[in-house]
Amino acid sequence: MLNAKVHELLNDQINKELYSAYLYLEFSNFFSAKGLNGFANWYMIQAQEERDHAMLFYTYLQNSGAKVTLDAIARPESDFKDGMEVLKAGLKHEEYVTSLINGIYAAADKAKDFRTMQFLNWFVKEQGEEETNANELISKMELFGGDPKSLYLLNQELSARVYSAPSLVL
Ligand code: FEO
Repeated sequence: MLNAKVHELLNDQINKELYSAYLYLEFSNFFSAKGLNGFANWYMIQAQEERDHAMLFYTYLQNSGAKVTLDAIARPESDFKDGMEVLKAGLKHEEYVTSLINGIYAAADKAKDFRTMQFLNWFVKEQGEEETNANELISKMELFGGDPKSLYLLNQELSARVYSAPSLVL
């Protein structure tokens, strides 16, 4: 049986990951409206990955015999003045998600819930990758975003991203 606090945090994380998917769908929407379909593709795939993350928490709770309680998903932030602001909001959001994962990990550690800690190891690594990706996008935009030809090529590069299912299977 899961510790009550660990259960609560794992359940909350379903909502946080679905919000992440919703936020990235809004980012994709922002870039589509600007005609930057490569950026839109990148965030559409990001949204799919976040939905996968939500399903991993959902499945983990169900496999643990723990009740899943679904909550309303908040309206995503959408008031961005330019693409750079979107990319920076993406990094800020990933840093927030990392802090949430760390918080669940700490609660599981306190409860000596080694199974949940092992489950979360994948997310700890994933968050490192997500933050790296978000930082790299910002660097590329800083370097190339100001020049139309370079922006065109960066957009092309991002259009090549393809979806792949998470490596963690429950
Ligand atoms: Fe599921 Fe990007 O954190």
